[in-house]
Amino acid sequence: MTSPVRVPPELVKRRLHDLAQHGKHGETGVWRPVYSEAWATAQDLVAAWLVEAGLDVRRDAVGNVWGRLEGSAGGPAIVTGSHIDSQLPGGRFDGALGIIGAVVAVATLRERCGRPRRTLEVVSFCEEEASRFPTASFWGSRAVIGGIGPDEAAAMRDLDGRGMIEAMAAVGLDAARIPEARRDKGDVDAFVELHIEQGPRLEAGGEPVGVVTAITGYRQYLVELRGRSTHAGAFPMAGRRDPMAGAAEIISGVIGNALRLGPPAVTTVGRLLIEPNARAVVPARVSFTIDARHPVEAGRGALLSAHEATINEVAARRSLDLTVRIDSDRAPCPCDQSLVATLAKAAAAVGGRPVPNLASGAVHDAQQMATLCPVAMLFVRSRDGLSHTPDEFSSLEDCVAGIETLATALHQLAY
Ligand code: GLV
Ligand code: MN
Ligand code: MN
Repeated sequence: MTSPVRVPPELVKRRLHDLAQHGKHGETGVWRPVYSEAWATAQDLVAAWLVEAGLDVRRDAVGNVWGRLEGSAGGPAIVTGSHIDSQLPGGRFDGALGIIGAVVAVATLRERCGRPRRTLEVVSFCEEEASRFPTASFWGSRAVIGGIGPDEAAAMRDLDGRGMIEAMAAVGLDAARIPEARRDKGDVDAFVELHIEQGPRLEAGGEPVGVVTAITGYRQYLVELRGRSTHAGAFPMAGRRDPMAGAAEIISGVIGNALRLGPPAVTTVGRLLIEPNARAVVPARVSFTIDARHPVEAGRGALLSAHEATINEVAARRSLDLTVRIDSDRAPCPCDQSLVATLAKAAAAVGGRPVPNLASGAVHDAQQMATLCPVAMLFVRSRDGLSHTPDEFSSLEDCVAGIETLATALHQLAY
């Protein structure tokens, strides 16, 4: 019989509040792009919490913060954590809950149970969202798995045109040293990430916590259509090469593809750039993002083929020049069955009854870590299913239930 590890709700409340002050945006939001001042002070705060918890603290070459509690038996580490950056603006819980949960869980275990048999580590990944650098998704966890290409940093520009090398230098990091952040396979044994659900399923089922069985696969495109800019009144409709008309058709086409394939396929166009962006001018160029996701590989394949057919057909029929850039691309990631079973037992011990399993529609650092070690995730109920907005909210009670489940599972794995 697994016994639950309880954590102090007041401490969780204080930590959530204190972290949200770094990059505070309005009443409830945060604006914490990677390598900004708000990001740097947030990582300092996490490092201070880890020191206070009695862990050995280090920062790696890409800016991830690590805390380590050495186990008496040595061997590879059991790692838990999430990401410190946010959407712009984002909410106070996405990423943050997994870091606070990891710090509170490991601190509580150390205080109550002393030194573990197996080494425990907490990580605050520097970047997951790609909210500042569109091609930098999972920057922190990709560095850890050795997944950042040698020329990537030099080629990367943020939304204001500033380079990655310069952004890293502004917080005292040298992009040339990123390979030093890599961890080896034999050195990490498991990664467990606590996160808010960011969708409505736990709420609909009246469940505070769920165990994740798989993380969605996805592909993110940047589509650029170029036509001929001309007068909005004098040039007749026939003969125009209007990239806005092409974009409108592609956007409704890809959303239609996702609807036609049905759940769990999803597709979002979240960013649109228009040149010259003027009322009386047929644009010269329209660029937009497409984010397409499916948790089953065959479904992802069908969705992506449909999207690519739509993009090519519309651009050709309208005589538009087309460039399609793939910014990120990842197959679905199954969670490790033995870790899933441990989390399910821990959740049942904490809540007094079994909890549901669910697939993640959001992407997570855990799916990068899966190339290094077995991974699993825990979800906490999101109010109204909202996330990537300052309206994102999870109750203290639900956050505590998630952290207690994490602590109980880590106790099972490490003591
Ligand atoms: C990351 O937060 C994503 O799912 O887009
Ligand atoms: Mn997240
Ligand atoms: Mn997110």
